Amino acid sequence: MTMLAAMCVNLSAAELPVGRPPLPAEIAAWDIDARPDGQGLPRGQGSVKQGETLYLERCAACHGEFGEGAGRWPELAGGVGTLAHERPFKTVGSYWPHATTAFDYIRRAMPFGQAQSLQSDEIYALVAFILNLNDIVKDDFVASQANLPTIKMPNAAGFYDDDRETAERGFWVATPCMTDCKPPARITGHASAVDVTPDSKTAPKME
Ligand code: HEC
Repeated sequence: MTMLAAMCVNLSAAELPVGRPPLPAEIAAWDIDARPDGQGLPRGQGSVKQGETLYLERCAACHGEFGEGAGRWPELAGGVGTLAHERPFKTVGSYWPHATTAFDYIRRAMPFGQAQSLQSDEIYALVAFILNLNDIVKDDFVASQANLPTIKMPNAAGFYDDDRETAERGFWVATPCMTDCKPPARITGHASAVDVTPDSKTAPKME
């Protein structure tokens, strides 16, 4: 339960004379995050085959039949090994560290414009199919609450916990160095490499 929900429950109407405590069903509808260790995943299962049918009906118009992306809609498959390239190709397969995140994301946000219209079994099937498009699982794979947290994603090791507390410990001192501090800052990349900064001063032509 989030802080906000806890606050609402603990305060009496007199202390908080607006709104009302949320109903358990309202909290349940809102509290839908699925975590890497499987916490929050609902019961259910779905196969690659079931996912393929659903995907073609409800996703392919935007994401392409093979996850290649239709027009300028996002790709969902491919790109493994490109993250260090000048133009990294980030997809569920090449970039995402956890399969459970695909469940969380699809449950929360897809299909675009009809978010939260899918049943749990349908979402498991879609995740199975997208993992299969990325060659992460075999054709006969059945995704479930039990096995999704155990899937090893290609870029799992590309993410690590925020280590600033130890890595930057020397920086967080009472008297920080203000002059001649070594080593000097080093520029390791440019925003233009990931294509967030336009090269020209005029806007690109839109489709
Ligand atoms: C109308 C077009 C459309 C449809 C239909 C659609 N999507 Fe999407 N999808 C999008 C857009 C747009 C985004 C990016 C949204 C954003 O970044 O805020 C996206 C993002 C995603 C992502 C995250 C991609 C990434 O790497 O960030 C996944 C996974 C996904 N969609 C799965 C699905 C699935 C599964 C379906 C079918 C149930 C579906 N989408 C249907 C438009 C669509």
